[in-house]
Amino acid sequence: MDESRVNSAEGIGADLHLELSGPGSGRAALIRALRDAVRGGRLAPGTRLPPYRSLAADLGVARNTVADAYAELVAEGWLTARQGSGTSVAERAEALRHAVRAPRTTPPRARGPRHDLRQGTPDASAFPRSAWLTSYRRALQQAPNEVFGPGDPAGRVELREALTEYLARARGVLTEPGRIVVCSGFAHALRLLFAGGVLRGPLAVEAYGLGFHRELLRAAGVRTVPLPLDEHGARVDRLGHERAVLLTPAHQFPTGGPLDPGRRAAVVDWARARGAVVLEDDYDGEFRYDRKPVGAVQGLDPERVIFMGSVSKSLSPAVRLGWMVLPERYVEGVLAVKGEREAWASVLDQLSLADFISCGSYDRHVRRMRQRYRSRRNRLVAALATHAPHVEVTGVAAGLHAVLRLPPGTERSAVKAAAWQGVALDGLAEFRHPDTDMPADEGLVVGYATPPEHAYGAALDALCAVLPPQVTACDPQPRNPE
Ligand SMILES: Cc1ncc(COP(=O)(O)O)c(C=O)c1O
Repeated sequence: MDESRVNSAEGIGADLHLELSGPGSGRAALIRALRDAVRGGRLAPGTRLPPYRSLAADLGVARNTVADAYAELVAEGWLTARQGSGTSVAERAEALRHAVRAPRTTPPRARGPRHDLRQGTPDASAFPRSAWLTSYRRALQQAPNEVFGPGDPAGRVELREALTEYLARARGVLTEPGRIVVCSGFAHALRLLFAGGVLRGPLAVEAYGLGFHRELLRAAGVRTVPLPLDEHGARVDRLGHERAVLLTPAHQFPTGGPLDPGRRAAVVDWARARGAVVLEDDYDGEFRYDRKPVGAVQGLDPERVIFMGSVSKSLSPAVRLGWMVLPERYVEGVLAVKGEREAWASVLDQLSLADFISCGSYDRHVRRMRQRYRSRRNRLVAALATHAPHVEVTGVAAGLHAVLRLPPGTERSAVKAAAWQGVALDGLAEFRHPDTDMPADEGLVVGYATPPEHAYGAALDALCAVLPPQVTACDPQPRNPE
C-alpha cells in the first residue's frame, strides 16, 4: 500500500496521513514516514500515536511492524512510550527537529512602516470584537442544521433580508432579497461580472482609480476607457459606445468629490439610451461628515445600475463579505457563474453579519467610527493649517482618506521623502489610468483611518514634517532628501 489514511477508531491517537513509499521493508518505510512527519512538524510534540493494532490494520501491515517502528523511533528519541498511556511524539522532538532542519531560506518578514498613512484600511484596532462575537455566537446557536450543508450561491436569505432593509435605509438602494447576491467583496463582484462573462467591455472607468481593479479587469480581457475628472466628478458626457461604466459616485476614489447631481441623472440616461449598465462602487458610502449622506445612484434606476458594496471599510477587509444588488436580468447569470455552491463567503460569517446588522450593532459601529474618523479628519486639517498652510487638502467631506494637493513636479520626491522618514503613503500618480490624457494632478493620498488611535498624533507630526515647503518660482526642490 502506498498511501493510507490512518484513523484511530477508538478515539485515541492522532489521525495520520502517512505515505509508505520508497525502498526498504514495510518497517523501514514506516519509520521513515513517521520520522518525516515529526521532523516536518506535521506531528507536534505530545501528539498521541494510534495503537499498534489500529495503525497496522489501517496500513495493512503486521502489528509487529508497527511495534518495531515505534520502538526504533523511541530509541532515536523522536517518540516516547509510557506504560498504560501508549506512544507519543517526544517533547524533545522539537529540539531534534530544529537540529536537523535545513537552514531557513525565506527572508524574515519585513517590518511595517513607522507611520502607516496608506489609504484602504479602517482602524484595525477598532474592530468590534465583542459585538461581533455576540452576533457570531447567537447566529451559531440559532442556525438550523441545513446551514452546515453546502451554501446557496445567492447567499443566506437572512443576510439578504438584512441588507435589503439596511441599504434602503442608509444608502437609498431600492431592492429585494432576490436581487442581492452575496460575495466576498467588491473585487469578487467585479470578477464575477467580467471574468464570468456576464458583462463585456469596453468598460468606461474614472481616470483615477485603484490599479488593482484595472489589473483585474485587464486579466479578464476587458478594455477600460478612462473618463476624465473635474470638480464635479467623472465627465460622463464623454461616454460613448462603452457597454458599461464603473463609478464611485458617493466619494470619487481617490480624489474625493461626490458625483454632481446632474451627472448622476445623465449617466443613468446614457445607460437607458444605450442599453448599457452603470456599476456603482459604494466602497465608503457610510462615512460622510459634512453633508447629508449622498444616496446611491442605484435608487434612480434599479434596472440600469449594479450597486456593489462590502464591509471592507466599515468593519474590516479581513471579513471578506460584500454584496451585489442586481437588475433582475443579471441575477441568473451571476448565480450561474458562482456555481451551485457557495465557494467564497463563509455561511457562518454571513449569518453573523445578518445578526450584526439586524440587532443594530452595525449602525452603532458605523456611527462610532464616523465620529472617530471625523475627528481624525479635523485633526489632519488643523495640523496642515498650522504647519503647512500652503498645502490644499481636498476630498475630506467623506471617506477614510484625504488628498493633499501639491505643486507640479513635487509629488514623487514628496512620496520618497515621506518613505525616508518612515511615513507610508501614496501619490496620486499611483492611481492614474495609463491611457488618460487629462492633465496630471499631483498630490498625496493620506489614509487617516489606518493608524491605531494612540499612534495617530505621531503620524500627523511625521506627515507635516515631510511635506514640501511652499514652492516659489526659483525654488522648485522639496526640502527633504530623496
Ligand atoms: C475604490 C475601492 N473600491 C472597493 C473597495 C473594497 O474592496 P473589497 O470589497 O474587494 O475589499 C475598496 C477598498 O476597500 C476601494 O478602495
